[in-house]
Amino acid sequence: MFAVVAGIAGRLFIIALLTGAAVVGLELLWYRIPKRKQDRINTPVKKNIAVITGASSGLGRMYACLVYEKLKDLDEIWLVARREDKLVETAGLVSGTTRCICCDLTDEEDMSAFGKVLKDENVRIRILINCAGKGLIGDHGSLSDKEQTGMTELNCIAAVKTVDMCLSYMHSGDRIVNVCSTAGFQPLHKLGVYAATKSFLLKYTRSLRMELLPKKIMVTAVCPYWIKDTEFIPAAVTKDRGVKRFLFASDVYSVGKLSLTGAMIGFPVVTPGIICTIHRFFSKLLSDTVLVYLWEGIRRI
Ligand SMILES: NC(=O)c1ccc[n+]([C@@H]2O[C@H](COP(=O)([O-])OP(=O)(O)OC[C@H]3O[C@@H](n4cnc5c(N)ncnc54)[C@H](OP(=O)(O)O)[C@@H]3O)[C@@H](O)[C@H]2O)c1
Repeated sequence: MFAVVAGIAGRLFIIALLTGAAVVGLELLWYRIPKRKQDRINTPVKKNIAVITGASSGLGRMYACLVYEKLKDLDEIWLVARREDKLVETAGLVSGTTRCICCDLTDEEDMSAFGKVLKDENVRIRILINCAGKGLIGDHGSLSDKEQTGMTELNCIAAVKTVDMCLSYMHSGDRIVNVCSTAGFQPLHKLGVYAATKSFLLKYTRSLRMELLPKKIMVTAVCPYWIKDTEFIPAAVTKDRGVKRFLFASDVYSVGKLSLTGAMIGFPVVTPGIICTIHRFFSKLLSDTVLVYLWEGIRRI
């Protein structure tokens, strides 16, 4: 009896996997069908740009260094974050023209100033990489209201606002990359709010892809596992110590390289590494009820 049920479940799983692969294959073909006349841009565009948020450190900085390799026709890379000195450091690492935009993405005035620059410069955004994000380890007992809602404001609200603002400057063939996390695959005790914000971003990104499919603007969610060599982990650790170790953490170069390659191909979700791919697989296979207990064990190791 058990063998029969397992056999049926296995077959259903393989059918679901193959159906998903076939749909993605069709989407990738669709994106590559040449533009119709009405999709071509009639007004002349002054420059083709990449917009990268969170470019003052970590993964955003890595994307800034790698994006010229992938998009040869870029005139400028716009680096967006709050710390000007760090943005200038990033600019120094990029072999190409950059522009530093000091902007707190959660601040309305900063955002409207950013929007005005975009409008005045008559740009076409070939790629928007929403990489700014923050996470704090802890729960309701150890994190303040401000710390918890701060994650929501940046990881969710600011990401949606940035997409909305940039979409007016995007056309067929352009790309949006939203940096989510494997945390978005399941509820995570002691990373509860962070995981929920990334789950929001992941689901939003997947529906945005469908919304922009007719326009052939490719939308990709990048879901990395822990990255050891960015400012994220030191900033996430609080006195709560809810997560003991960051076992098998990946490195920013491989995450940047793999995820950008995946986004250029046009995949809907990219898990740039072995651990995040395994996590993605099991999050489809097991229920949240089981996954939360597995995480309870892992985070205490
Ligand atoms: N590192 C990991 O373990 C890991 C794992 C999975 C997913 N991720 C995701 O990957 C993305 C990049 O993280 P990272 O590892 O590169 O961390 P990071 O080094 O801390 O970079 C975060 C970036 O976000 C910017 N930022 C923070 N608040 C901002 C605000 N209010 N307005 C504008 N920019 C702001 C920071 O710049 P300023 O401080 O200068 O503003 C910084 O450039 C995040 O979305 C994170 O959730 C990270």
